[in-house]
Amino acid sequence: MKYNVKDFTLEEKLALLVGKNHWQTDSANGKLPELLLCDGPHGVRKCINGKTESATAMPNLSALANSWDETLAFACGETIADECVEMDVDILLAPGVNIKRTPLCGRNFEYFSEDPLLAGYMGKAYIEGVQSKGVGTSLKHFALNNREYHRLVQSSEVDERTFREIYAPAFEIALQAKPTTVMCSYNLVNGVYASENEKLLRKTLREEFGFEGVIVSDWSAVRNSAKAAKASLDLRMPCFVNAVSELKNALEEGWLTEEEVDKRVEKILELVEKREKADKKRTVSFTKDERHERAVGIARECIVLLKNTDNILPIQGGSVVVADAPHPVPPADTPFAFPPMGGGGSAYVATDFSPRPLHTELAQRLQDKPVTVSEASHRWCPSVESVGYKADTVVLAVGTNKTVESENFDRATLRLHPAQEEMILNVAKVNPNVVVVVYAGSAIDMRAWADKVKGIVFAGYLGEGASEAVADVLSGKYAPCGKLSETFPLCLEDTPTGSSCGNGYVERYDEGVFVGYRWYDSKKKDVLFPFGHGLSYAEFEYSDLKIEKKGETDYEVSFTVKNVSNVDGKEISQLYIRDPFSSVVRPEKELKGFTKTALKAGESKRITLALNARSFAFYSTSFDTWYVENGEFEILVGASSRDIRLSETIEIDLPMPTQAARAFKY
Ligand code: GLC
Repeated sequence: MKYNVKDFTLEEKLALLVGKNHWQTDSANGKLPELLLCDGPHGVRKCINGKTESATAMPNLSALANSWDETLAFACGETIADECVEMDVDILLAPGVNIKRTPLCGRNFEYFSEDPLLAGYMGKAYIEGVQSKGVGTSLKHFALNNREYHRLVQSSEVDERTFREIYAPAFEIALQAKPTTVMCSYNLVNGVYASENEKLLRKTLREEFGFEGVIVSDWSAVRNSAKAAKASLDLRMPCFVNAVSELKNALEEGWLTEEEVDKRVEKILELVEKREKADKKRTVSFTKDERHERAVGIARECIVLLKNTDNILPIQGGSVVVADAPHPVPPADTPFAFPPMGGGGSAYVATDFSPRPLHTELAQRLQDKPVTVSEASHRWCPSVESVGYKADTVVLAVGTNKTVESENFDRATLRLHPAQEEMILNVAKVNPNVVVVVYAGSAIDMRAWADKVKGIVFAGYLGEGASEAVADVLSGKYAPCGKLSETFPLCLEDTPTGSSCGNGYVERYDEGVFVGYRWYDSKKKDVLFPFGHGLSYAEFEYSDLKIEKKGETDYEVSFTVKNVSNVDGKEISQLYIRDPFSSVVRPEKELKGFTKTALKAGESKRITLALNARSFAFYSTSFDTWYVENGEFEILVGASSRDIRLSETIEIDLPMPTQAARAFKY
């Protein structure tokens, strides 16, 4: 170690445990370099002295998750980190891997999925991408920050099994990438603030999950610096006038020791040293234009084709009218910036890139086809006759924006704005060939109009490359290959939490492990579009499932996927397990593996995925650890959670002593 805690005075050590200002760590009287921490998951938000510098707006994590492609998560992180290097940012405050427990959560656009395995592996790859450029990360928000309502004061009340099976695993998996920091959340967890929660921070995160980096607070999440330090929080952000006196008082009263302070300071010293050693990795590799192209390339893979009746897509010919119907309340700073690039709050990216109109991008890509593309005469249609929606194909672009999906508040509804729904219904009345493109950060209730249109494309929040990526897909230049990383329910009332949001002090996670598809499938509820759903212009067949036992609970699951169409494409295959007879109530199925495969027209590929003890285990609060119960397990291979193509039943029969083990890892 280059830095030794003995070389610092007590005053200097205490100062190191709290930010120097809003975004930097302290220098201990110049003995250390200050580190600059900046948001965010979708691009650099460097705001010094109230001015936010422009940066590349990348696809939001919610859209990135729809790619189900870890290589793209890596590339997204790497691209943002490249700009961090250019802007002298040391640590990027990302990614967030909180589980999408309710589609109402205002920050769902910043999170990956309702499923912990998908969220975990996408988060892990993103971290690896950022850190490959010598930029630090902050895996956040640990833990159970699953809505914005009263996030500073409400306690998330959760049982141990639900925490271990649903809310902890994404962090557990992402920690395999060794993030430089983990950010604790604002909320209380079972009655104790996350920032002061010793069970959460020391026992679980440090001792059980083995996290060795810095535990940093969310901004202003600490109530008392000494209680936080006692619980193993290392760095309070941002600066706070009474922080050092709180630490001094606790030292004087004897319930915090200087040895404990030194342990926290050593983590800060290690962080600084890690940053200095990263210098050789911190090279700028991309130009601004190249970052934009990477944003477009990633965005393409995130687009989900939800409905394609009569193969209305890709557009092959005839006349096309494109109408933008943005959310009527434009963002204050970029009026009518459409399509929306992302949600609001700390993850917002102030890009100087002007969104490109979809109709010009589409026209460009269809110029060599017998197609005429025009823009609707104006944004809204009091009556469709007046704006000529008589084209062969009408493309309606709708969506939310940062005034609807943002940090600090949750959505009040899952539906689009009434004016947007009215426009879709009006146009569909006079034209049967309508394609709706939706830009949003989370599930949308489409019941009012989904059966009135032939095509539905869920773009998500794709960043600055949205129009180019969507035009690539609508024109057939690129076959859509995204799949939903969260269920689109029929309505809010069907979701596990409905419109409840706690009482401002406590929210009980009464649904337990039944989150997302685990809820809808176990309750046998119809949904609008299931978890893992997404169509392509290609068509894929699954065959020849083989399950090979490779060890006591290690299995290799292999199967063949064939592209039986004349279009090149990519297929996301999903592997689920079902425990039909268990001593505890378990979800109807659980995702335990996935992969994305590029297949040319007519091509077949053999795919192999692995299962281990953890794949079969549930968290037993009786054994207080992971437990594999002997008996039958169904192995399910699907194109979505509700489109199972292959299945087989295996029998697990472990000798008793090996059934329970804390060591069962992903
Ligand atoms: C915010 C967010 C967190 C962000 C931090 C710094 O309140 O909760 O995600 O990184 O503060 O802006």
